Amino acid sequence: MITEIVFKSKNYVESIMKDNKKNGYYYHCWEHILEVYDRAKYLIEKEGINDDLSEIIFIAIFFHDVAYQYDFKNHEELSSKMCEDFLLKNNYPKDRIDIIKSIIIVTKPIIKPQNILEKIMKDSDLDNLGRKDFFEKGDLVKKELQNITGKKISDQDRNLTIYNLLCNTVFYTDTQRKERSQQLQKNILAIKKLLN
Ligand SMILES: [Fe+2]
Repeated sequence: MITEIVFKSKNYVESIMKDNKKNGYYYHCWEHILEVYDRAKYLIEKEGINDDLSEIIFIAIFFHDVAYQYDFKNHEELSSKMCEDFLLKNNYPKDRIDIIKSIIIVTKPIIKPQNILEKIMKDSDLDNLGRKDFFEKGDLVKKELQNITGKKISDQDRNLTIYNLLCNTVFYTDTQRKERSQQLQKNILAIKKLLN
C-alpha cells in the first residue's frame, strides 16, 4: 500500500536522483530505484508482509542509494542520514526511523540481513544478479565506475570483479532463492568461461 509518507519519500528522492543518468550515474539512477521497488513489492506479497511493515521497506528502498552521487564509497551512511532528516521533518516516529536506517545500511555488501525486512531489501537490491539481463546491468556499472573514477577498467578486471561478486552472492528469502538461484549459477558459469 502506498501511504502518504511513502509517496512523499518517492517524490523527494526522485527530485534528487532524476538527473543521475545524465550525469554519468548510469546504474545508480532513478530506474534502479524503481526496479528494486518493483521486486520488493513482489517479495512483500510472496513473503506475506503486512501493510504496516511494507511502508518501512518502501521508504528504505526509495532512500537506499540517494547519496550515491555524493559519496559512492560510503553512500549508505549518508543515504540513511538524509532519510532520517527527511523523516524527522515529516514527524515520522523515531523507532520506525531507526528500523529504516538499519535496512538502508544492510545494502552494504559486507553486512548480512538480520530480519525479513532486511532480507527483502538485500534480495531486491541484488535481484539483477540472478536475472538474464545481468550482463547489461554489469556494463552500466562499468561505464558508471569509469565515469566516476576517470580510469578505464579492462575487460579482464571487470570480469574478475563480477565473478567474485556473483560467487559471494547469497539470496535470503525463500522466494528469491526459489526464483533466482538457477540463473545466478548460469551467470557464474558464463562469466567463468570469459575468464578462462
Ligand atoms: Fe541499490
